Amino acid sequence: MPLVNTIEMFKKAYDGGYAIGAFNCNNMEIVQAITEAAKECNSPVILQCSKGARNYAKAGYLKHLVEAAVEDTGIPIVLHLDHGDTFELCKDCIDGGFTSVMIDASSKSFEENIALTKKVVEYAHDTSKHPYVTVEAELGTLAGIEDEVKVEHGNESYTRPEDVEEFVKRTGCDSLAIAIGTSHGAYKFKPEQCTRDPKTGILLPPPLRFDILEEVSKRLPGFPIVLHGSSSVNQEYVKIINEHGGKLVDAVGVPEEQLRHAAQLSVCKINIDSDLRLAMTAGIRQHFEEHPDHFDPRQYVGQGREYVKAIVKHKIIDVLGSNDKI
Ligand code: G3H
Ligand code: 13P
Ligand code: ZN
Repeated sequence: MPLVNTIEMFKKAYDGGYAIGAFNCNNMEIVQAITEAAKECNSPVILQCSKGARNYAKAGYLKHLVEAAVEDTGIPIVLHLDHGDTFELCKDCIDGGFTSVMIDASSKSFEENIALTKKVVEYAHDTSKHPYVTVEAELGTLAGIEDEVKVEHGNESYTRPEDVEEFVKRTGCDSLAIAIGTSHGAYKFKPEQCTRDPKTGILLPPPLRFDILEEVSKRLPGFPIVLHGSSSVNQEYVKIINEHGGKLVDAVGVPEEQLRHAAQLSVCKINIDSDLRLAMTAGIRQHFEEHPDHFDPRQYVGQGREYVKAIVKHKIIDVLGSNDKI
């Protein structure tokens, strides 16, 4: 099966009350970990590359790695541009064989966001030049860091449900990322926004704004919604990292039960990057400490790859519910 776009995948996910995991990848081991996990769970999957990932690995390498994964696993895979910030970057990915792109003009004014998104949609949907490429857009801003853009906690803005119909109608986008309280990175909430579990000392974050999600879904029936910044910062990985020389203090994510609930509603795509980074780091740190004599990258990166694979399987089965959906 060749790379696919998100149309069928999201339709099935919407109707079936589950979400597709969109996992970020930067190198071969991460691509393998994600796609082998998805294959073993019989789950469709989205592999997404940021501008930074394309600069790090070079666009051609990522594309060929993903094609190798398609060949190796035979499962439905979308190759998606994460947080495209210009028309040129989106066009480059579309011309280079990506099957889905995100144009993220969420930091611009409403009218500028519409104009840029519409321009990308027109190019992506023009099948005289390439197969139909799906476009994700964004309304509202998340706190946290993505590429060079840093939005301080307190400066994020929730999506205004009253804007969504006009935005989708005027742009023609295929899915919409909204801001309901998730944020990018491993430090999603400031300690003062959280309560602390008296037994474990772990921070408990404020709940997501499901009222906004429900209002958006009412206004856009059947339309696929996307959540960014949806790592849960699983504390077992933080613990392994900190017990093996790391120092991650008060790292906190979105509780998995809340994501599971969102996946049962209109959320069809859930973006997870930081949890994979933590799993890779935990595996490598543990390997180095337990085997100080090892110096073959296949040994320590291999352990990182196993840890990433394990977290992806957990997400697919226990959070997204996309297992056994092929
Ligand atoms: O939302 C951002 C993703 O985690 C990608 O991060 O731009 O550092 O590759 P990156
Ligand atoms: P996390 O930092 O929560 O993993 O979010 C990733 C993301 O939204 C990628 O676009
Ligand atoms: Zn994101």
